[in-house]
Amino acid sequence: MNTIILAIESSCDDTSAAIIQNGAVLSNCVANQEAHRLYGGVVPEVASRAHQANIVPVVDVAIQKAGVRKEDITAVAFTRGPGLMGSLLVGTSFAKAYALAFDLPLIEVNHMHAHVLAHFAEEPKPAFPFLCLTVSGGHTQIVLVRDYLDMEIIGETLDDAAGEAFDKTGKILNLGYPAGPLIDQYARLGQPRFPFPEPAIAGYNFSFSGLKTSILYFLKKEMAANPGFIEQNLNDICASVQISIVTILLKKLRKAARETGIREIAIAGGVSANSGLRQALQEMGDREGWNTYIPAFQYCTDNAGMIGVAAYYKYLKGEFCGQDAVPFAR
Ligand code: KG4
Ligand code: ZN
Repeated sequence: MNTIILAIESSCDDTSAAIIQNGAVLSNCVANQEAHRLYGGVVPEVASRAHQANIVPVVDVAIQKAGVRKEDITAVAFTRGPGLMGSLLVGTSFAKAYALAFDLPLIEVNHMHAHVLAHFAEEPKPAFPFLCLTVSGGHTQIVLVRDYLDMEIIGETLDDAAGEAFDKTGKILNLGYPAGPLIDQYARLGQPRFPFPEPAIAGYNFSFSGLKTSILYFLKKEMAANPGFIEQNLNDICASVQISIVTILLKKLRKAARETGIREIAIAGGVSANSGLRQALQEMGDREGWNTYIPAFQYCTDNAGMIGVAAYYKYLKGEFCGQDAVPFAR
């Protein structure tokens, strides 16, 4: 059986299309929306309009790059949620229209499942069961993954997501949006010499709102004494913020690994692109005797390749959806 899936991802501010043949990613194209930088965050209305403008060219490029013909495609997959409703509607409507026009089966994919299954786009692939720390702009979860389509969230954030902690700190520091990659860059040049308190949260759950508040108060105090404080110490501030976020994440992941006895440990989502997190996971993995799995950069942030990989496993199980499938925001 030759399965060629056209996958669409439009949950937030990246318009992405990919072609997946028998589970292997042939192309994975992403159009980033630069307009949001002007506003310091994603503006939903702007995002939906940009998806409308980008989706046809992005799909065309994905098909071209994959070297397949439109009529070779055997199924269409799309991100149903969670995400921004207006953004999701563009991808969902496009996928439905495509499936209708070519009389193809439709596959709906959960965006967070897809972040986890991004690990099956390339070697090495984790063995089941594994734990996946999924860290993005909207979510922070520890997921117990028993099989491709059998996952359980065993811990999650009670307030802000890890990506949000990076982005909101960036706003305080007057950096551009998204601030995660910028903080990562500055942190490499600095020393983590400003300690921030760790939250005391039970179980495998997380909290980041207290960290944001303590960073804000710390900076207010320092700036009152020295208005040039941020400028003069930007690298060290970023290194300190980054190590605090990474420590909060990895301590809970280690607790989950020790208590479940699972040693196959993965990270996923946009924040898994963070160099501090990648390095610290590797080091913790060496100490704890884990096999660690870190996705290639193109599979960390939002991309349709991961949607297509997830869709492939649903295809194998015959899990299709109807034309009446509507997006969900959360
Ligand atoms: O998974 P993703 O692309 O979109 C969502 O599903 O939310 O994640 C986006 C998030 C943003 O908060 C961004 O700041 C963060 O991932 N991010 C990073 C890095 N690259 C992206 N955070 C820290 N360090 C990075 N290198
Ligand atoms: Zn995402």
